[in-house]
This record gives sequence, C-alpha cells and structure tokens, in this order.
Amino acid sequence: MTQKIKFAVVGCGHIGKRHAEMIARNTECELVGLVDVKDPATLGIEEFKVPFFATIDELLQSDLEIDVINVATPNGFHAEQGMKILESGRHLVIEKPMSLTKTDSEKLIFKGLQKHKQVFCVMQNRYSPPSVWLKELLDTGTLGKVFMVQINCYWNRDDRYYKPESWHGKGDLDGGTLFTQFSHFLDLMYWYFGDIKNIQAKFADFNHKDLTDFEDSGFVSFDFVNGGMGSINYSTSIWDKNLESSITVIGENGSVKVGGQYMNEVEYCHVKDYEMPELAATNPGNDYGAYKGSAANHHYIIENVVDVLKGRNSITTNALEGLKVVDIIERIYELKVQKG
Ligand SMILES: NC(=O)c1ccc[n+]([C@@H]2O[C@H](COP(=O)([O-])OP(=O)(O)OC[C@H]3O[C@@H](n4cnc5c(N)ncnc54)[C@H](O)[C@@H]3O)[C@@H](O)[C@H]2O)c1
Repeated sequence: MTQKIKFAVVGCGHIGKRHAEMIARNTECELVGLVDVKDPATLGIEEFKVPFFATIDELLQSDLEIDVINVATPNGFHAEQGMKILESGRHLVIEKPMSLTKTDSEKLIFKGLQKHKQVFCVMQNRYSPPSVWLKELLDTGTLGKVFMVQINCYWNRDDRYYKPESWHGKGDLDGGTLFTQFSHFLDLMYWYFGDIKNIQAKFADFNHKDLTDFEDSGFVSFDFVNGGMGSINYSTSIWDKNLESSITVIGENGSVKVGGQYMNEVEYCHVKDYEMPELAATNPGNDYGAYKGSAANHHYIIENVVDVLKGRNSITTNALEGLKVVDIIERIYELKVQKG
C-alpha cells in the first residue's frame, strides 16, 4: 500500500505532458519513463528527468519496472499500443477515444481480462461539478421521466488547428469530429441516460474540404433505450472561436441546461420542489492556444488509477463504458455518406 505506483507515458504532446505532470505531482506515483517518436529536445519535457524511448517497443523491452502505461498518442494508435501494453502485463490508461472501432475496443477488453490487468479510459469531464450535479439529479429521479435531451456542440476548428503535418483531420489517425472533439459529450450522455437506438443522421462538410478527411457538422437524432428522445447537433465550422457545448434536458418535473464552452456552467435549472445548490467552480479548459478543449481534470484520472490499484475505489470510466462510446459513434458514422 505504501509503494509508489510506477507509470510510463506514451506520447508527449499536449495531453501526454499533462499526464506526466499529474503523475509527477501525485505523491503516491512515480514517473519512470516517457516515449515519443519526436526528438525529445523538441517536446518540452526537460523537467521530467526520466529515461526516454523513441518507440513503445523499446520501452517494453527495457528493464524498467512499470505498473501502468498511459497512452496519449493520436487516436489511430490507441488500440495497437494498448494491446502491446496489456500483453506486457501492465495496467493501461487510454486517452479518449479508446479506439476507432468497436472491434478494437472489444479486443482491448478481452486482452485486459486475459492478462488480468485494468483498463482505464480517460473521460475527465465527468469530474466537472456541473456533470456530477446533473448525474445526481437524474439518478435520484428528481427530474422525473426524461422527455427530451438536446446536445449542441459548436466549436471552432480551422486551419490553425488542422495543420498539414498534424494527425488532426486524417481519417486513419483522427477518425472524425465525434471521436476527437465531441466524444466527451457522448460519454456524458451515455453516463446520464444510457444507450440509444433508432439513430437518424444528416452530415455536412461546410468549410473543411481542404483540411480534413471527414464531415465538419451533423444533426443526429435518436431514442433512448430507457425512454425519451435526444439529438446531437455538432459542428467545427464555427467562425474564430468556440461557441458552446451544451446539454438541455426536458424532464417531467422540470428543465435544466448546462452550457459554456465545454458543458461547464449550469445555465438554467427550474425543477419542481428543488433548489439549485451552489456548485464548486469548474477547472479551466485544457489550453490549445486559441482552443479550449475539455475541463482540465486529469489529476482526477491519476488519483482514480491509484485508488483502484490500491483497492480504495472502482474505476470512474471503465473499459466497457469506453467501448460503448466508440460503439455509439460507430453506429452514427455508419449512416454517413462518404465524402467524395
Ligand atoms: N482527455 C482530453 O481532454 C483530451 C484532450 C485532447 C486530446 N486528447 C487525446 O489525447 C491524445 C493525444 O492528443 P494530443 O492533443 O496530446 O496530440 P499531440 O499531437 O499534441 O500529441 C501526440 C504525441 O504523440 C506522439 N506520437 C505520435 N505517434 C507516436 C507513436 N507511434 N509512438 C509514440 N508517440 C507518438 C507525437 O509525436 C506527439 O508528441 C489523442 O488521442 C486525443 O484524442 C484527450
């Protein structure tokens, strides 16, 4: 129980560095190695005085003692790298999305079970105070039956983000806007309301034809398996800066709306016999220069890994839930007419 948990991180970009920082700051953890295909001198990782490897294979073949390996590489590498990590007998922390196909996520789950290792998915928006609040409001039945849910995700992603040399926008490495930009919000939707069925969708590519391999916008509607209907309206075509990511819930006993750039502010709450409590402030978004992505809650992920491995808690976002988000996106994208 007193031993530090030894972590390595694969991929030292925006989010991999955040994993490394959060591990280094946690007194129950030790960062023991980093991996990236780029020259380490260009990565801004000097502060972490740990062995560096150019490939995941070199890390796995080294004689370093490692308990957990975090994957923070482009989406298209998650499945292959995750399989290698589990095969090597380490626990796996995998950035969102877990993989780009349901089949690959299933393989990760089976490998984790076979090797008896944990798979942690990163969906840190669940820790934001408005998310915790809304989950409780729904779980306690305070809203009554859920009639309608509307999710709007309107962000700006233009040529400042989709650079030719980046993995962003590439079909095989990025996978699409629902995987890279909006999977957090699909995760929250699944966490709140469960699975969906009877999906209908309409997609468009307004101004990303020269920037990405996929759509930039969509209207998706469906029924919840547990009752009520919902929709996700999303776009990365918003001019200049993010507009919002919001969720509106119309229930039998009242209505709520959580908005802000990344579902981080309660904008409306009018519910029968209910007084809105004061919520703690949400952490600011992960900074991507002009872009804010999702709440900066990665320290909770690392704390959860420690708690689970020390037997103090269960996994916040487990592999089955990671799989379910991939499954939902896959079923939505099945309705897409391929871009010509
Ligand atoms: N949870 C969140 O809020 C959140 C936010 C942003 C990104 N992400 C996810 O994190 C992952 C990384 O995103 P990012 O924004 O940090 O991207 P990034 O481009 O900033 O970093 C990716 C890093 O991986 C390295 N890399 C590429 N191929 C590699 C390989 N085969 N082996 C080792 N390293 C390799 C790159 O050189 C780069 O340094 C993505 O899956 C993304 O979806 C999660």
